[in-house]
Amino acid sequence: MSKFVINGGVKLNGEIAVKGAKNAALKILAASLLTKEEVVIKNCPNIEEVNRLLDLMQAVGTKYRREGETVYVQTPEVNLDNLDPDLVRKIRVSVLLVGPLLVRTGQVKLPHPGGCAIGKRPIDLFVDGYKKFGAEVKEDEDAYIFKAKKQLTGMTYIFPKISVTVTESLMMTATLAQGTTVLKNAACEPEIPALAEFLNRVGAKISGAGTHTIIIEGVSELSGGTYDVIPDRVEAGSFAILGALAGEDLKVTNCRPDHLDVLWAMFDKMGVKYQLGEDYVQIFGGGNLQAIDVQTHEYPGFPTDLQAPFTVLLTQCQGMSLVHETIFEGRLFYTDMLSQMGAQIIMCDPHRVIINGPTALSGRKLTSPDLRAGFAMVLAALVAEGQTEIDNIYQIDRGYESIEKRLQAVGANIKRIVE
Ligand code: EPU
Repeated sequence: MSKFVINGGVKLNGEIAVKGAKNAALKILAASLLTKEEVVIKNCPNIEEVNRLLDLMQAVGTKYRREGETVYVQTPEVNLDNLDPDLVRKIRVSVLLVGPLLVRTGQVKLPHPGGCAIGKRPIDLFVDGYKKFGAEVKEDEDAYIFKAKKQLTGMTYIFPKISVTVTESLMMTATLAQGTTVLKNAACEPEIPALAEFLNRVGAKISGAGTHTIIIEGVSELSGGTYDVIPDRVEAGSFAILGALAGEDLKVTNCRPDHLDVLWAMFDKMGVKYQLGEDYVQIFGGGNLQAIDVQTHEYPGFPTDLQAPFTVLLTQCQGMSLVHETIFEGRLFYTDMLSQMGAQIIMCDPHRVIINGPTALSGRKLTSPDLRAGFAMVLAALVAEGQTEIDNIYQIDRGYESIEKRLQAVGANIKRIVE
């Protein structure tokens, strides 16, 4: 097990570049299973989550190689016999493979993916969607079994609740279904039009991605192609928050500021000084920041994935803030660790905390509970007095590539200890 040792209180300066979006790269990888031809994915982050999904894909027949930021994948044949249930269970995004594998092979067994630190994470909407395409879905003690006796047929699906991965999964599956599929009340996160752009490039016919209604006309096959992954908006937002917390003059480059409009609106109200360019944001730290209430919401609302880093920032703002996490039911428990560091936080219920700031934080021994809360612990440690040790950093490596090296380059005192 590795850990980070961080000495806080250092002001950060310089440039930090954003990598390709985890939550876009994973979907393009899964979608590559829809074709036998080669798919070239540029700007593909070298992170645990991507590499573990590649392990799973390799087990079903994908051949891949990485050259720097570019990953070449090709799946000429699919063989589901080698799918390791333990690996499937370990990576929640394995659920993304169901649609493409169902189209390719007509039958997929998915071990129950289970919940994780941020919530129960049911898969009922996936099941509903595949049934509407005409698949049979059975559940036994260990797994879901999806069967398509004939070619799936286009359908209209109205999401009772907005879901990012279900929107993406049904969109991928619909590309090779017979006839037209209409997805209503679909998610609009930027990763969805990105996936649609890739799929259209390899022969799909999708319109409306990025709005709440997506129309997919089925085609008979998809070809290979090349795609450049969009910058990671969560990483960009996390670095911008870091700039507000611990920066003097921190420039976050290679990003899409237009994917984070809601964060800039919040910064305006709080008094954070920043400058936006087409592909960068420069944050000027310091000054008294004002507390603000925040409620997570589907895009273009405030992203749940930025809630934990933003909460750390709120501990350093003047006044009282309410953080309302509406998407996941387990995504505020990490605030207990911020309280141990000296923050004044009251948990009202699993979805709401009240923060009174500003309070000085002090270094502690911490455990990273999940990816985003883990990165929030890094932010807290960087403003805390003294030393913080964070273990279980595999969780952070799942989504942030070589994070300690990139933070060191802007002046942070952070070390990885490999034990
Ligand atoms: N939900 C259901 N039934 C389903 C599917 C989802 O009830 O069948 C619920 C979820 O439990 C949740 C809500 O719907 O309460 C919304 O979840 P959604 O399905 O949109 O989340 P996701 O697709 O599983 C993606 C990202 C998450 C991000 C959320 C919300 C990927 C791989 N993951 O998850 O990213 O928080 O959308 O924006 O794209 C992360 O990167 O750390 C991360 C967790």
